[in-house]
Amino acid sequence: MLSKEDNDLLTRVSHGAPMGRMMKQHWWIPAALSDKLEADGKPLRVRLFGENYVAFRATGGKVGFFDEACPHRGASMALARNEDNALRCIYHGWKFSVEGVTVAVPTQPANEAEYCKHVPLKHYPVREEAGIVWVWLGEGDTPPKFPELPFVGLPRENFVVFRQKVNANWLQGVETTMDSAHLGVLHQSWLKGFGDIEFSSANMAPVYHLATKPFGFRYAAVRQLKDARAYVRTNSFVMPWYGIVSPNDTEVKGGSIFFSVPIDDENIWYWQMTYRSSEKLVPNKTHHFSDADSWPPLPPGPPEDNWGQDREAMKNGHFTGFTQMLGTEDFAVIMSMGPISDRTKEYLGAGDGAVLAVRRCLMSALREFIAGQVPALARHEQIDYLQTPPVSRVVSSEAEWRAFL
Ligand code: FES
Ligand SMILES: [Fe+2]
Repeated sequence: MLSKEDNDLLTRVSHGAPMGRMMKQHWWIPAALSDKLEADGKPLRVRLFGENYVAFRATGGKVGFFDEACPHRGASMALARNEDNALRCIYHGWKFSVEGVTVAVPTQPANEAEYCKHVPLKHYPVREEAGIVWVWLGEGDTPPKFPELPFVGLPRENFVVFRQKVNANWLQGVETTMDSAHLGVLHQSWLKGFGDIEFSSANMAPVYHLATKPFGFRYAAVRQLKDARAYVRTNSFVMPWYGIVSPNDTEVKGGSIFFSVPIDDENIWYWQMTYRSSEKLVPNKTHHFSDADSWPPLPPGPPEDNWGQDREAMKNGHFTGFTQMLGTEDFAVIMSMGPISDRTKEYLGAGDGAVLAVRRCLMSALREFIAGQVPALARHEQIDYLQTPPVSRVVSSEAEWRAFL
């Protein structure tokens, strides 16, 4: 249970709320799928932390990232012409290079060059990595070091990345990623189909063993098997929103990374990347989508219709009645909590250890940020992000899995 003040501090990210300011200052933000930006193509409207931006790929391939409103009189730069390594606003023709330099103000009859120098265009540093356009939205000139998460530098065929827009606060997304206890319940109808060892022969309630780390924490979820061995999955929480989750297949090197990036206080982009460290990713049925910006499917109905839950399917053996995709089940439950879950009314148990640990990390970083410090969990130069490989293994002794932590 949280106080209302703490729930507000943790969840609110727009309108200058400290959590939003901290995230923008100290972390790179996943903003768009690289594939959605075409050189000289349509600019993309991007909303993050309750603010509107525009991203575009210039003639030479570089990505630019500006405030959406033209600095002149606020026409949307998403309507701009994208040509000649610049955006040209269609209203009065002001032109801004991909580097963020104002290069033409045709409505200024004299001293145009001098006038250009003072146009307050807001533009932001961008980096492309792992099929994603990342942006730094902080104050000042020096972006933080880019975190060397496990997907950095992987060849394109080693990963798949997609996202969905979900009407829920960002913390609900992160908490469901780290909440391993729900897998064997909420997703049981799906996991049967994957032939997963965990749920066919182990009990549903894992025992969590947490280890704090410079990037957040890591935990082993240990499930005793009938034959005295244990099935162990180690997952990591990497600030401020990454859940790095082990694969179901114990033979595989790689995992899935989920991140819930705030569009505003009540909406997120729920991202998922599944990757293999040293081999090509063989797509499974969860990777067959037509639009990477809209996957997995949202629950098919409105709240008035119980989000489109299929009671007939439940009668016929489906546990949740959300037969669309495994992720649809996550979306249904996090949307059903309301746009911002009221954590003053929750009642937590032993299975919620990882959820509590997420909140502790965020809150400790936020206290440091409010006190004017760089949060310890954001000192990227000192953090070894490669300590995060997810492991999923059947082991015969505690010493064996302790070594994975
Ligand atoms: S509003 Fe963009 S040039 Fe005038
Ligand atoms: Fe889930």
